[in-house]
Amino acid sequence: MSSQSKRFYVTTPIYYVNDIPHIGHAYTTVAADILARHHRLHGHNVFFLTGTDEHGQKVQKAAAERGKSPKEHADIMVQNFRQLWLKLNISNDAFIRTTDERHVKTVQELMQALYDRGEIEKRSYSGWYCVPDERFWMDKDIIDGKCPDCGRAVEHIREENYFFLMSKYQARLMSHIEDNADYILPETRRNEVLGFLRNNALGDLCISRPKQRLSWGIPLPFDDNFVTYVWFDALVNYYSATRYLAPQTCEWWPASHHLVGKDILTTHAVYWSTMLMALGLPLPENIFAHGWWTIEGKKMSKSLGNVVDPGEMADKYGADALRYFLFREVPFGLDGMFSEDALIRRINTDLANDLGNLLSRFLTMADKYFGGNIDLPQADAALHNEVALRCGEACIHALKDDLWDRLQFSIILETIWNIISDANNHIARKEPWKLAKSDPEELKRVMSDLWHSLRISALLLYPFMPATAEKIWGQLGLKSLTEEVRQSWGENNAIFDWDWKPGYAVKVSKGEQLFPRIEKAEGKEQKEEKKKEKPKVSEQAAKELIGIEDFAKVELKVGIILSAERVEKSEKLIKLKVDTGEERQIVAGIGKSYDPEQLVGKKIVVVANLKPAKLMGVESQGMLLAASDEDGTLSIISPERDVHQGGRVK
Ligand code: ME8
Repeated sequence: MSSQSKRFYVTTPIYYVNDIPHIGHAYTTVAADILARHHRLHGHNVFFLTGTDEHGQKVQKAAAERGKSPKEHADIMVQNFRQLWLKLNISNDAFIRTTDERHVKTVQELMQALYDRGEIEKRSYSGWYCVPDERFWMDKDIIDGKCPDCGRAVEHIREENYFFLMSKYQARLMSHIEDNADYILPETRRNEVLGFLRNNALGDLCISRPKQRLSWGIPLPFDDNFVTYVWFDALVNYYSATRYLAPQTCEWWPASHHLVGKDILTTHAVYWSTMLMALGLPLPENIFAHGWWTIEGKKMSKSLGNVVDPGEMADKYGADALRYFLFREVPFGLDGMFSEDALIRRINTDLANDLGNLLSRFLTMADKYFGGNIDLPQADAALHNEVALRCGEACIHALKDDLWDRLQFSIILETIWNIISDANNHIARKEPWKLAKSDPEELKRVMSDLWHSLRISALLLYPFMPATAEKIWGQLGLKSLTEEVRQSWGENNAIFDWDWKPGYAVKVSKGEQLFPRIEKAEGKEQKEEKKKEKPKVSEQAAKELIGIEDFAKVELKVGIILSAERVEKSEKLIKLKVDTGEERQIVAGIGKSYDPEQLVGKKIVVVANLKPAKLMGVESQGMLLAASDEDGTLSIISPERDVHQGGRVK
């Protein structure tokens, strides 16, 4: 897909300026930033667009409440977004505002083109209107006089309006989604859209609002009594930005990825796709709808007072820690629960213990044993070097186009952590403090192994934690990471090799600590958990215990998941192809906790000598191990280090 081409265009939704940005807005924008940085690092021609949605009733209302004109209000509110993106190190190439003159012109041009082609018709219309959502509903949709989407009261309205003849594109849209497996991701969302299209007749889309009801919008070029429906105006931003905000070095349309939250998938997958079809413009390569962050399972809302301010989190814990947490904690695509406790846990374990300690131990030893001077070995140093080989494998995995094209950020981060853990284990195994006395040559090799492991981790981490990656790079005695990468373009990613700069001497130096541990007063929950008396093992009835000879009958092996797909008509079952030294098919009941695309490439533990069984008519040749949380969420058991498939679990 896109990463093979040299052109990469990624977008975020354009956010409403009726409110201040929260953690959800930061989530989508950081995701786009990660993609943009990854592609830039690989020398691709990148255009990364974000912006604000400034027309429509919501904004008009919010402005009126503050006693401002809509434009004055938008000018103030837009600053909140711009400042937040600076704080979070967002590298957007452009920022579009739907009040930009050139955008307004493009919307009008496209509207006129559709009108001239007979794709827009004026009709008298009556329906239920949801003011906050700016959406019409039919009788059948309304639930107890309320909007089926947001649950708020709807008004009955009769008026003349313009309609985009969307219904005639239904069949074409379905075939497009069916023929292009990656058009809508994750797969579950694609199936939802297809299911909707298969079971419902698509209506035509009301794309205007009478001026007397809504003045804050773009006037229709062919009828001045109306303004455009806010979604028509907003969706066009992705295209109009390519006309006046992108560098005119290439044709940027179509976009490589539109990143959106699951709340606005229909508007993108159905409205935008059919609008483009009618305009005769190419469709984007991919629309990715990610999941929803909740606060302790509840929707974020001002009335509940639980809105998380990403700027405040970044001030308290650092932008990179926040960026890391959002993409490591929950696979991109699924819903997640945000909590400061979980964020602190990730900082203390992954960032302070694993990554921060590795760097600091390495630098302390480098200083103590070599005065900070590290000599890199000559070429071919990677041969017969287990750490280098494992790092190379992890690196190939973490850079796989398929993972990047499908936005599998958490798997990429897990893979980077395999390198970090392996380097920490290397220190534990080699005990450099002993080598300092017994084998100085081996100590040199170990130190250069650690230097490369850290360097490659920093490179791979750069899209996720750009400032941290640069800091590590600097402490390793190198100049700017992005600068080095730029210089090694065209060298086949040589910068990721163990043999990069053979025979080179670097002077490393300890800088500020990357992630100081965060000490937190024990919360009420933890205290109560500690208080609970846990039953003692010895209290279990002896008859429930088994002997080691019984356990030894169970053959447990490490496997790698080669492919995964849902078993038809089952919510729970996923059919896996697994390599456990031999290829086998396993049907696992993990479908409520995982999407198939999250699973490919994962290392798992398999009961290998289980009699085959059929689950919903599909044969399963073994079983995978997963731990169950209190709420029934399953978590697959994986070896802590990257053990080879077929490896025995004892
Ligand atoms: O819908 N969890 O703007 P918006 C995760 N202007 N992501 C969340 C989230 C949450 N709890 N809450 C919001 C609009 N988001 C339109 C878009 S695009 C042509 C027009 C993110 O300000 C997520 O990306 O309501 C969601 O789709 C977007 O913010 C909605 O932002």
